[in-house]
Amino acid sequence: MADKRTIRTGGTMEAAQTPEDGRIENSLRPKKLADYVGQKKIRESLKIYIEAAKGRGEALDHLLFYGPPGLGKTTLAGIIAAEMGVNIRITSGPAIEKPGEMAAILNNLQEGDILFIDEIHRLNRQVEEVLYPAMEDFCIDIMIGKGPTARSIRLDLPHFTLVGATTRAGMLSAPLRDRFGMLHRMEFYDVAELKQIILQSAGVLGVRVEDGGAREMARRSRGTPRIANRILKRVRDFAQVRFDGVITEEIAVTALDLMDVDRLGLDHTDRNLLMTMIERFSGGPVGLDTIAAAIGEDAGTIEDVYEPYLIKNGLINRTPRGRVATEEAYRHLGLGAPGFLNND
Ligand SMILES: Nc1ncnc2c1ncn2[C@@H]1O[C@H](COP(=O)(O)OP(=O)(O)OP(=O)(O)O)[C@@H](O)[C@H]1O
Ligand SMILES: [Mg+2]
Repeated sequence: MADKRTIRTGGTMEAAQTPEDGRIENSLRPKKLADYVGQKKIRESLKIYIEAAKGRGEALDHLLFYGPPGLGKTTLAGIIAAEMGVNIRITSGPAIEKPGEMAAILNNLQEGDILFIDEIHRLNRQVEEVLYPAMEDFCIDIMIGKGPTARSIRLDLPHFTLVGATTRAGMLSAPLRDRFGMLHRMEFYDVAELKQIILQSAGVLGVRVEDGGAREMARRSRGTPRIANRILKRVRDFAQVRFDGVITEEIAVTALDLMDVDRLGLDHTDRNLLMTMIERFSGGPVGLDTIAAAIGEDAGTIEDVYEPYLIKNGLINRTPRGRVATEEAYRHLGLGAPGFLNND
């Protein structure tokens, strides 16, 4: 069964996406591997693979990127195409409904092209099955005719590279996962990396940012470049209207506080999630679906978007019996030790 959930790429900061944001996001995408900040391990191995594939005049092996939204999977796919000097065709799992559509896309590729499939875990089974021989042997089997006279013919495809992206590798079927030559997990970015991204984006947007301002925005970006860029744009507006346009540390702090983004980068939903676990479920263990129902959020979105960052920062632990809010979560919310709330 294909998974039909829609994953909202979440948080209050994310919900504010406008068409203008989308256009700016594209203009902020680095075009070269050298300009891609962070993800050092991925960058280094890609550099080698790209060079080797180019040296042999071959297409790159199929690649899978997985990890939370906004960490730069789509950006990386574009960079790979540019570095290889090939075309990129972009589509997504839910957009391809029939095996014939997938066959047509594959058949239209040229030698060396990159086919980028976003949310690849949401391809349905029949469509996915077209990909197996395509990825492995660069061919597809298509049925000609109907009924007893129907026969299948094999069509050769150009050697292409499939780049898949997913928020969760665990949602991928084993046969599909096994056909990728390289699986790369995207990591959250550290403050220094986010600061560099913010300064690069400020350069593109023509915004003046002081060092302290950049650091403060980086700290509160939830380890995520997309959020860093979005914060930069909002704080820029604030600086422009209330001050003379330069983003100082003080302005960044004031603007981010107003935006309800706290010093760890948690937004309203993050804090609501932690608070609900603590106040209604004594800090847990509590099941994902129970939390989801309590805060009115989709369980998949919590698992893919909110939870990874909370776990990474030691605010939530996953146990076999459910999620547990850590002491750090109590402290972050200014609640004192866990026992304190349980006993009243
Ligand atoms: N390593 C990076 N260096 C500089 N900017 C980056 C980097 N990674 C991402 N960005 C910026 O963050 C934004 C979001 O990145 P991108 O769209 O590639 O994320 P994604 O992982 O594909 O997200 P989703 O899972 O939602 O599709 C882009 O506009 C890009 O400018
Ligand atoms: Mg993307």
